[in-house]
Amino acid sequence: MSAFDERLCVTCSAPTNIATIKYWGKASAELNTPINSSVSVTLHQDDLKAITTVAASRSFSKDRLWLNGKEEDVESNKRLTTVIKLVRALAGDKVDAKTGEVLVYKADWPQYHVHIASRNTFPTAAGLASSAAGYACLTFALAQLFAACETYDGELTAIARQGSGSACRSLYGGFVRWQKGERADAADSIAVQVADEAHWPELRALIFVASAAKKGTSSTSGMGTSVATSELLRHRAAALVEPRLAAIEAAYLARDFAGFGRATMVDSNQFHATCLDTYPPIFYMNDVSRALVQAVHAFNAHHGAIRAAYTFDAGPNAVVYTTASDVAQLLAVMSRAFPVPRGAPACSDAALAAEAAAEDVP
Ligand code: DP6
Repeated sequence: MSAFDERLCVTCSAPTNIATIKYWGKASAELNTPINSSVSVTLHQDDLKAITTVAASRSFSKDRLWLNGKEEDVESNKRLTTVIKLVRALAGDKVDAKTGEVLVYKADWPQYHVHIASRNTFPTAAGLASSAAGYACLTFALAQLFAACETYDGELTAIARQGSGSACRSLYGGFVRWQKGERADAADSIAVQVADEAHWPELRALIFVASAAKKGTSSTSGMGTSVATSELLRHRAAALVEPRLAAIEAAYLARDFAGFGRATMVDSNQFHATCLDTYPPIFYMNDVSRALVQAVHAFNAHHGAIRAAYTFDAGPNAVVYTTASDVAQLLAVMSRAFPVPRGAPACSDAALAAEAAAEDVP
């Protein structure tokens, strides 16, 4: 007889998100809290998701994880063990939704271990942050499995934050703020939805792959060096981000693309300026990224208005926000500016892939 009960198995998916006002720098590495609040758009697209299955059984001898088909060590991964521990602590009685039978009493959960299998649907070449979707998905899937109950609103986002900061924002759709929080225990360093996914149906995000190579400096280590050395980052967190957050949230709520786009580009540029101000400097953008910045400004100058807005995370690839009516023209301009060499794969290291994926944000 198998000791595995498939009613103790849950599969969930979670989307990624792209910040328009960036998180860069930790106030506490231990609690994974940020030095400034941030805000992002959640990308609801089937090929930009994490899909995670979690199963619990008394017969499992330890917690185990398979990431994209490869087993990873759980014990040595502090972020992972923290997330599992924190969701477990919220576990409740697990009831079969159909029959009402109690499958696991709250008190019995310590006898169960979990197996986790997670994969990303991200095109490998896109090099987009996958930890945000991954930890959001894991936190949510475990919460379903353990019948976890939040003790306050946003508690699951505070747990996902401890897997990867940006992950807390992926638990909501639409436009989402991660507020840095003030409390010593960081219980208020949570994600809050500013506007839901139905709020701005015309908004689009285009992804341009400038390089398929794996990034050289991880976000975690890059922001550590920036906090230690960049005076610009200190000034940014202390004085510049809060007014920009207020402005971009108001613009998003008013569906004011020019206001939204300007704040997005200014913040991306400032984030990369803090990377240059870091000692030794960190270079995430490359020549193709910079050419794309110029192409977007030329597009906007041609229209006499901000109709497209780029943002770059910790890598050279761009996400360009625009609205539905401008997608075709923007893609045409970009394909002319960055032709994909004949016979080259769509995502080429040598040139920006003009075959950008147009995607519906909501
Ligand atoms: C540039 O969330 O990946 O994408 O908390 O150390 O896991 P950790 O960092 P991570 O950093 C994301 C940085 C960013 C900006 C952002 O998403 O806000």
